[in-house]
Amino acid sequence: MLLDSLPPTTIIPLVHNTSGVYIGIDAISGASIYWDVELSLTPHVLVIGPSGSGKSVTLSSLVNRFVKLYNANAFIFDIKDEYRDLLSIYRNNGLTFLNPLEEPLPLCYCDDTSPKKLEMINTVVNSVSSVYPLSTQSKKYLIRTLADICTRCLSIDSDWHYGLEVYDKELNRAIDTLSTLFNVYPSRHNVNHKILDMLTVKKREISIINLKHLFIRDRTKSVATVIHILNYLLSTLSTSSTSIPNSVVVIDELWHVIPFIGDELVNMLARYSRGLGLALFMATQGIDDLYPYIDTIVNSSGVFIAMSTPSMSYWQRLQQYLNLTKKAIDYIMNISGQGIAVTRVSPCKTPIVLYIDPLDNW
Ligand SMILES: Nc1ncnc2c1ncn2[C@@H]1O[C@H](COP(=O)(O)OP(=O)(O)OP(=O)(O)O)[C@@H](O)[C@H]1O
Ligand SMILES: [Mg+2]
Repeated sequence: MLLDSLPPTTIIPLVHNTSGVYIGIDAISGASIYWDVELSLTPHVLVIGPSGSGKSVTLSSLVNRFVKLYNANAFIFDIKDEYRDLLSIYRNNGLTFLNPLEEPLPLCYCDDTSPKKLEMINTVVNSVSSVYPLSTQSKKYLIRTLADICTRCLSIDSDWHYGLEVYDKELNRAIDTLSTLFNVYPSRHNVNHKILDMLTVKKREISIINLKHLFIRDRTKSVATVIHILNYLLSTLSTSSTSIPNSVVVIDELWHVIPFIGDELVNMLARYSRGLGLALFMATQGIDDLYPYIDTIVNSSGVFIAMSTPSMSYWQRLQQYLNLTKKAIDYIMNISGQGIAVTRVSPCKTPIVLYIDPLDNW
């Protein structure tokens, strides 16, 4: 049921598809609502809503259905260690877990060629310099030191300050982050298959990157991990000829990465989605968390879901993005509850009121 045509008198014909990713139930007509990614303007999803409104439940059910239906693989950045449980109602297998505090990410592989090692080191240094403002000199120092560590195949923190005091605060933080998150592996083939497997495209797999403890200890390190895995993932994607993405990246609690990767995120939303087959599923509490990219992110989302709340100011803030009339706001405020949401599903431009159905009944 279209919001603008409230109150309902008869059940109107569905303007939405009956194939694609099942999202939920039209709160008024009871019809099942689907998102057909092939018909959607973009393959991205944005969920907004206050704490407890159902954002993570929504993302987990959508990503699970997307992976199954479109034979994709997914990467979930999980700062609350909740997706293992959320997804356990759907699947017992097809889930891979990674905690970079327990299994550090690869800085380099000793048996790789020097140019390949240097390429990996550069990616790592780019990732940390996205979160710490490093001078050119500091970056050069990092690259030189890391190259030495990789050439000699040493554990990353065995040799850091050898003969050298580092007085630069940001450089020190970058070094600390590198020592916490990365290490050197003797070979691509005999260690840490999990990381490689995860990043090498596998069909219908969901990888959960558990960032909870890292996030609690140091948010910036958690962001550096997100950035690095994204960078690495982008470097493994090849040109996609289909309009259906084969990789989905889930960034829940988007607010914590926006200040560091806003520009890159906009690039990913706009450029990599079709060309490299990448879809971003994002969630955050308020639309203003997306500042200064609000319009770009909202307009780049094929599915835009605003979870319900009885708060007038919340809906007034969202009014312009969902084209809500005063009557529609009154209605949604009255029926608000967990899982109820105003949802715009591309290619349809008009939002509808849905119950986001976490149970697979399709
Ligand atoms: N579609 C739904 N149907 C029924 N219950 C739901 C639905 N979505 C969420 N809930 C209930 O609400 C609880 C909170 O949901 P969820 O963790 O997804 O909220 P959230 O918006 O992600 O909150 P936070 O911002 O704190 O992470 C769930 O544990 C579940 O009990
Ligand atoms: Mg959540």
